[in-house]
Amino acid sequence: MMKIDLSNRVALVTGATGELGRVIARTLGECGADVAVHYFKNKEGAEKLCAEITAMNVRAFPVHADVGSREEIMRMREIVHERLGAPAIIVNNAVSQYPWVSVLEQAPEDYESQFRTCVMHNVLMAQIFVPAMIERRFGRVIAINTECAMQNLPNQSAYVSGKRGMDGVLRVLAREIGAHQITVNQVAPGWMISDRQRGTPEEVQIGYSSGVPLRRRGYDQDIANAVAFLASDLAAFITGAYIPVCGGNVMPAI
Ligand SMILES: NC(=O)c1ccc[n+]([C@@H]2O[C@H](COP(=O)([O-])OP(=O)(O)OC[C@H]3O[C@@H](n4cnc5c(N)ncnc54)[C@H](OP(=O)(O)O)[C@@H]3O)[C@@H](O)[C@H]2O)c1
Repeated sequence: MMKIDLSNRVALVTGATGELGRVIARTLGECGADVAVHYFKNKEGAEKLCAEITAMNVRAFPVHADVGSREEIMRMREIVHERLGAPAIIVNNAVSQYPWVSVLEQAPEDYESQFRTCVMHNVLMAQIFVPAMIERRFGRVIAINTECAMQNLPNQSAYVSGKRGMDGVLRVLAREIGAHQITVNQVAPGWMISDRQRGTPEEVQIGYSSGVPLRRRGYDQDIANAVAFLASDLAAFITGAYIPVCGGNVMPAI
């Protein structure tokens, strides 16, 4: 039977305390990876998640950093290397939140925060974690993008600019480091059902779902499954991909 086996690999998930991050971190643990659980403000959530993951008989450790800060990511690397070893898998998932308004109304700081947590987050994670992957001639860089990057809908300009910016960085990176057998891929969720809405009437969004070919919303676990696949040996020959996991709501053309 084919199964996803990430045992003896260390994974670092940024924003692991968030709606999708916690399910991604748990799933990588279920596949046998040791998991560095990154948090920004939610230390308690990170500690609780680590307790859940260590109960799966793998190691897990909480680490703090602002993903827009080189110094803080460098410090995070020191701690992760010391506690778990060099990550073979990094999942760049964190993003800052801000009010969604029109271009004419959006504060310049909102573009800056999206640039930091989308573009610079991915640049710094690559600069700081990829060198150890190059030494071992193995690595998985997985970033969480969004279907919104292809939709360009009103009120999403800061988000879309950050996500389209990181897409450019990651596709170039895929070409630059592919020779070292390091893959670089993006998972692009649709509007997923997660703990925030699970089991509430908010789960059902008829307006949104009616435009989705599968006529429903997907779950946080659908995103974690795609990440686990990309992290595994099963995906060894996939790189530079932007993979929508959104029931077909966006379909990148070839
Ligand atoms: N949920 C969806 O339906 C959906 C749809 C499309 C795309 N996505 C993408 O999926 C990813 C996760 O989304 P989500 O809904 O799970 O978001 P979320 O619940 O808001 O979680 C975001 C995480 O980012 C962390 N964070 C925020 N600012 C940070 C900073 N400056 N430095 C370090 N960490 C920071 C937060 O940490 P603390 O909580 O510890 O402060 C939080 O854990 C994002 O990249 C998002 O664009 C999500």
